[in-house]
Amino acid sequence: MGPNDDEKRNTLERTGPWRPAWAVTGGGREAGHRPSVVLGMSGSIAAFKAVEVVRLLVKAGVRVVPVMTESAKEFIGPSTLAGLCSEPVVTEMFDPTCPGERHVSLTAGAEVLALVPSTAELIAALAQGRANDLLRATALCARCPVVMAPAMHPRMWEHPATQRNVATVLSDNRIEMIGPVRGEVATGEVGVGRMAEPEEIAAKLLSYCVPQDLVGLRIVVTAGPTAEDLDPARYLSNRSSGKMGFAVAERAAARGATVILIAGPVSLPTPQRVKRVDVRSATNMQKALWEVMGADLGHADALVMTAAVADYRPEERFEYKMKRAKVGKTTTLGLVANPDLLAEVGAVRTGVRPVLVGFALETLVDDELVAAARDKLRAKGVDLVVANHAADAFDRDDNRATLVTLSGADPLPRMPKTELADHVLDAIVASCAG
Ligand code: CTP
Repeated sequence: MGPNDDEKRNTLERTGPWRPAWAVTGGGREAGHRPSVVLGMSGSIAAFKAVEVVRLLVKAGVRVVPVMTESAKEFIGPSTLAGLCSEPVVTEMFDPTCPGERHVSLTAGAEVLALVPSTAELIAALAQGRANDLLRATALCARCPVVMAPAMHPRMWEHPATQRNVATVLSDNRIEMIGPVRGEVATGEVGVGRMAEPEEIAAKLLSYCVPQDLVGLRIVVTAGPTAEDLDPARYLSNRSSGKMGFAVAERAAARGATVILIAGPVSLPTPQRVKRVDVRSATNMQKALWEVMGADLGHADALVMTAAVADYRPEERFEYKMKRAKVGKTTTLGLVANPDLLAEVGAVRTGVRPVLVGFALETLVDDELVAAARDKLRAKGVDLVVANHAADAFDRDDNRATLVTLSGADPLPRMPKTELADHVLDAIVASCAG
């Protein structure tokens, strides 16, 4: 820890305006609040990596307001950035059509100002408090947190002048730096100067946008279908896409939880900061679940069981492909019941942890849907069942569900699966607090 770190933390705590907006308002998601990041680009070849940072932020539901210096435009076309952000790129300090002072108003209400990439010149300007273009003036004026991702040739980074500027900027306790890292730079040389990876930068920026209310919790999520093999070419499965479980894992990780995602056979990308365990059959999932949670369930604070576990598997798994000529015109397939994974966990749990959440996909509606979900809740010994109708959930990015507990039912409107995931996680937070 450097000599200034303690002082820096104190300053950050003391200085109200530097806290992210959600922290000031108490932590929970405010209805309709869309977090925003002002992303300032200066002229470096690493600007192409900044485009990926923008994409990740937009995907996470963040509004990104792009600001470019004149030299940044030499590397990335403003229309690329404007298209990705669905926002016009701002460059000019003075605009007769824009009321007020841009460098003051740009970051008002923003969760964070991101300087990605930051050139040696931008660091020098901020070290001296120069404000001779819109981005520099905005950074000088910002009251929100400022995160800088430097990118430059290693000889520029090593130069004593740059190192002096970096030390000055950091000692002011107003700017957080991420990277640069050691690696190959555009000229092919290797050294410290390469911009940090977009995923790492986006995760840092998102931590300012999303309440970190799940820090310290270990959440296990299951997702997707299971596949029950019949022979080397054929299997029994279902239509589950895995999207709901992946959304829960993504949101839980974004809110600071340690997340283990046990996924059936789906081809979805692993969300950031999520540990993924791939499985195929129900019995594979059962084994993974107990390994991850521990025999006494002590390794998990919550289990969210979105997986559509196949209830039956073929009685026999043939080693060779079944031949039509041998099977004949009709045949009967023998099936045996798979274990009920959630009910097994529910039966072992003795206290209130882990919080157990099941999903119930039904073809019933309204009161009958709630009643069926509550029956499952009792039978499996869980705290919450997310009940939905098959037509509302399959293969979609949104869902309409009712959160059913022993004593209540909360019907939610149709919403993106990531938003439904947040509702489920809110219920877990409330359960952990209670
Ligand atoms: N579940 C499970 N193991 C199974 C079947 C289901 O852990 N073998 C879990 C699911 O992950 C889900 C919940 O139990 O969280 C309800 O799943 P669902 O298929 O709706 O319920 P079933 O108990 O299989 O009842 P049914 O198919 O008769 O509606």
